[in-house]
Amino acid sequence: MSSYSPDSDEPKSLTTAWIATILLIVVFVIGLLIFPPLYDAPKGEASSFVLFIGRFHPIFLHLPVGILSVLCLFELICSTRKGEQKFGEASLLMLILGAAGAVLAVFAGIMLSREGGYVGGNFSLHQTMGLLGTVGVLIALVVRLMGMARGSMELLNAYRAVYFVSFGIMGLGAHFGGNMSHGNKFLTEHAPAAVKGPMVAMEKWMLGFVEKPKAEKAEPQAETTSEVKPEPKAEVKPEVKTEPTAKGTTPPPSAPAPGGDEKLVFQHVILPVLTAKCNKCHSAEKAKGKLRMDTYEEAMKGGENGKNFVAGNLKESLSIERILLPDSDDDHMPPEGKEQLTPEETALLKWWVEQGASGTQKLNEAKFPAELQATVDGILKG
Ligand code: HEC
Repeated sequence: MSSYSPDSDEPKSLTTAWIATILLIVVFVIGLLIFPPLYDAPKGEASSFVLFIGRFHPIFLHLPVGILSVLCLFELICSTRKGEQKFGEASLLMLILGAAGAVLAVFAGIMLSREGGYVGGNFSLHQTMGLLGTVGVLIALVVRLMGMARGSMELLNAYRAVYFVSFGIMGLGAHFGGNMSHGNKFLTEHAPAAVKGPMVAMEKWMLGFVEKPKAEKAEPQAETTSEVKPEPKAEVKPEVKTEPTAKGTTPPPSAPAPGGDEKLVFQHVILPVLTAKCNKCHSAEKAKGKLRMDTYEEAMKGGENGKNFVAGNLKESLSIERILLPDSDDDHMPPEGKEQLTPEETALLKWWVEQGASGTQKLNEAKFPAELQATVDGILKG
């Protein structure tokens, strides 16, 4: 205690802090130039290194969350001159580390978004507010350094204002990120009514700014599908092997297999849709809502609420119900911000449920609606 002299300005220690701050800002700006935040589907494939780093976003983000939360507490103490003298430098260190963590999380997040499929209101708000919050924290850092250098309480108070606002923006942005991975209801579902109402209302209000009006749905697509049916010619060299004795030359398994197409409707047409659009969250690794759809049995068994697909009954089939909910509904599947089903895929799932939700029906016994044939062919081709 005695060794601490509150009056001494120590420009030496601030120099390091300035250097760290400037470096951080430079890295941030250059990083954003190299990896600009995108709000649409990424163009082209990202390198696997980028995607690898991206997956660390959910880990890195805990750095700023933890450090900057504690800093809030410290800054309350620092708001008196005495507190600042005691804890100012510790706060500065936390601020620098928290800002660095935020920058790290932002870049990992941007890289993660290069996987594609990140669209929608939750994502827009998450990305925008995460960025704004980070910019705010960096500005706050500069103001704090200036305030400390000049010993100005006014500047330090201005810093705290900027900091708390930025922290708030970042926190809200983080919340929309949470909604992306856990669903819109995650935080509010069990909240007391008095909290839930305002929270849900505020979310809706904020999402309203970034969500496109849902008037025009992709209907024109449905028409184009029905006309493209020039069957890939199956009349390939009819003379080839009528006798199976020829040993080494078995026909390629990809051949159309005229007589015995053993492919199953569920396995080869329905399951690929579920795999692509649902099973990142509903499979053995991750069974959200206790629902798995990676096998026929699991898909039929359903999750928490059971009755996932009820043969012949669209209304009773929970998955169909939730797919058909408006995108903005909290229960809509796939959750907002995730890659959605195309109208054709939805129609296909409905068709399958309506005509019995069979797991054994063979492809060549199925009568797909004509307008879905092109979609089915597309799925079969992979
Ligand atoms: C990004 C993750 C994600 C994707 C993708 C996703 N879901 Fe979900 N799903 C969830 C979460 C989280 C829950 C649990 C919370 C809830 O009920 O909203 C859930 C719950 C459900 C439930 C309720 C299960 C029960 O018994 O309570 C159904 C049905 C469902 N999803 C169907 C689907 C279908 C069909 C698709 C694909 C078209 C899909 N989900 C895609 C995250 C996802």
